[in-house]
Amino acid sequence: MKEFDPIAYKKMVKEHQENDNPTAWFDSIYTDAQGDYKAVFWADLEPSPYLVKWLKENPGFIENTPLSKQKKAIVVGCGVGDDAEALSEYGYEVIGFDISKEAINLCKKRYPNSKVKYLVADLFDYDKQWFQNFDVVYECNTIQVLPGKYRIQARIAISNLLKKHGHALVSCRSRKKGEQEDDIPLPLDYDEINKFVIDDNLEEISFLAYDDTQVPSIPHFFAIYKKNKE
Ligand SMILES: C[S@@+](CC[C@H](N)C(=O)[O-])C[C@H]1O[C@@H](n2cnc3c(N)ncnc32)[C@H](O)[C@@H]1O
Repeated sequence: MKEFDPIAYKKMVKEHQENDNPTAWFDSIYTDAQGDYKAVFWADLEPSPYLVKWLKENPGFIENTPLSKQKKAIVVGCGVGDDAEALSEYGYEVIGFDISKEAINLCKKRYPNSKVKYLVADLFDYDKQWFQNFDVVYECNTIQVLPGKYRIQARIAISNLLKKHGHALVSCRSRKKGEQEDDIPLPLDYDEINKFVIDDNLEEISFLAYDDTQVPSIPHFFAIYKKNKE
């Protein structure tokens, strides 16, 4: 396994972003793990506790209904699969997709008997049948690793996956406006995440700002939005 070097990593990401090639480097993070999903430096190796809390109250099936009533969820940039598996465990029919082929290989190797459909796909060019087709869209840390206009495109593409009455769950690092503007990853400030409401017309159902358990701790947002209109 290749040792993670944060300085070289940030330089590599910045170069890709400056060359307007912002998604070409993701696969290298997974290939550097050389087949070991535990070696992917950004993987928590457990589902978000905030996602699990929500799933306990909002499972993807209603008992004693036919399987066709199962709700559909999609996980954007699913990485090594923990959040997709949690949605599946709570009864959702799940697609987990990632632009990285090696991330998807790791998911399939890690969960050989999974019910999740793991796919290589691009948030910026996904299957037209996915448009407004999901009850739940889960996004964790994808927008923050993209630059400039791609962040806006990503947010819109996420919102467009939602069917009417569907929920988008958005988890990310956060920052105060005007701070950390050159950081990699670049956390979202409140105005940016609130564009799910202001520009995409979603309703804010809940919004949590919290510090994680790392030392030193890193501020995060966990927001839940609902689509009320077509
Ligand atoms: C910081 S990682 C987070 C991975 C995972 N969600 C997690 O929380 O561990 C961002 C993920 O988004 C994926 N990604 C970036 N751009 C993408 C795109 N345009 N379409 C699909 N996946 C993308 C990357 O390959 C990577 O797996």
